[in-house]
Amino acid sequence: MRNRKDIHPASPPQTKDLKQLRSAAKDCTACPLHLLGTQTVFGEGPRKATVMLVGEQPGNQEDLRGQPFVGPSGKIIDDLCDELGIDRADVYVTNAVKHFKWHARGKIRLHQKPDLSEIAACHPWLEAEINSVQPRIILCLGATAARAVLGKTTAIGASRGKSFEASGAKVLVTWHPSAILRSPELKSREEKLKDLKADLKAAWAATEL
Ligand code: URA
Repeated sequence: MRNRKDIHPASPPQTKDLKQLRSAAKDCTACPLHLLGTQTVFGEGPRKATVMLVGEQPGNQEDLRGQPFVGPSGKIIDDLCDELGIDRADVYVTNAVKHFKWHARGKIRLHQKPDLSEIAACHPWLEAEINSVQPRIILCLGATAARAVLGKTTAIGASRGKSFEASGAKVLVTWHPSAILRSPELKSREEKLKDLKADLKAAWAATEL
């Protein structure tokens, strides 16, 4: 059983400098996930990005490479950006939780959803990234991201297409790409992919309003 004292809110330095924030986050021990992950996976992208994508937590490949969305979920984002003529390098990409939470099945590290205390412990890092980048639009990929950004439980199916506000940004929510990868039915996969593309397009278009 985990000791409650093992978990506390992260305390980023008081700076808007992403390099300093990234460097400080490397040593974060705010929750026990730092013992599981290979490294902290901080966000990436321009300091003045108008759109910020927030995912759940790094996956296996992200954990090994130290970059967000470079595995199968990232490939979906890359492909959709290509189709929409969006340069991913213009987007700030990050996660609600900066360490990979997993459990072993044989030699495989299987993704495990972060719990509310881990999301809360990591939140100051996300807040610091949002304060630094000050995006106009935050697109939350999935329920964990929506929880972290909006501070409340949000059902993605019912909230897609609605507009929220947090930290001075317009917030939209959509499916996490893994919902597409994990969906057993082709029809549901295709529909979610179509939705995600439409939501990415809407997020990008909203920066031009
Ligand atoms: N899933 C996420 O939520 N984030 C990543 O960086 C990769 C997969």
